[in-house]
Amino acid sequence: MKRQLSVKPLLFPMPTPLIAAAHGDERGLFTVAWIGMASGTPPTIGMAVRSSRNTLRLIQASGEFTVNIPRVGMEAEVDFCGIVSGEGVDKFAAAGLTPVPASVVSAPLVEECPFNIECRVVGIHEMGEYRLVLGEIVETHADESVLTASGKVDIGLLDPLMYVPGMQEYWAVGRKVADAYTVGMPIKERM
Ligand SMILES: Cc1cc2nc3c(=O)[nH]c(=O)nc-3n(C[C@H](O)[C@H](O)[C@H](O)COP(=O)(O)O)c2cc1C
Repeated sequence: MKRQLSVKPLLFPMPTPLIAAAHGDERGLFTVAWIGMASGTPPTIGMAVRSSRNTLRLIQASGEFTVNIPRVGMEAEVDFCGIVSGEGVDKFAAAGLTPVPASVVSAPLVEECPFNIECRVVGIHEMGEYRLVLGEIVETHADESVLTASGKVDIGLLDPLMYVPGMQEYWAVGRKVADAYTVGMPIKERM
């Protein structure tokens, strides 16, 4: 038996990356849960940013941003960056996070986040009070410590912090249950 919950922006779970941008001598950093892959070719990230966000101003001015995946243990820093607006505030310094230069874009990477994505803005679409920001991926970085011998990101080692909307909780990823593009093959073969 299903119960209707009305119209709500719920999707489970959500990532909770730190988005960084810079323009001139200003730097912005904020938490975004409404984010995902919008295209594979070219690889493009889409994120929903409320028009009032200070960092959006820097993203629009520079045309660039970075997506930084925090690991479990960084919940206080992530929460802080999501509850304090950065105009005139250095959130890197306040949260004890380290900005390091990216390879391609002007926005910094967050050193403490083990996986980082550099994006160049390719579109910003108005969606009510939000702006759907599309950023083409121009480089990715991973700490050596989260890579397998073959150079793939090991989710257990990365231990990314997740967000659960509605309950407003931070969670860790659970356990591997199957191999993708494989476990469904027996059903396909029965067709
Ligand atoms: C867990 C969490 C998720 C959030 N997700 C988003 C989001 O997807 N989009 C958004 O615009 N704001 C989101 N916020 C709110 C912003 O991070 C927050 O308003 C922040 O202070 C904006 O900083 P800025 O004004 O310095 O850019 C989120 C906050 C938290 C705590």
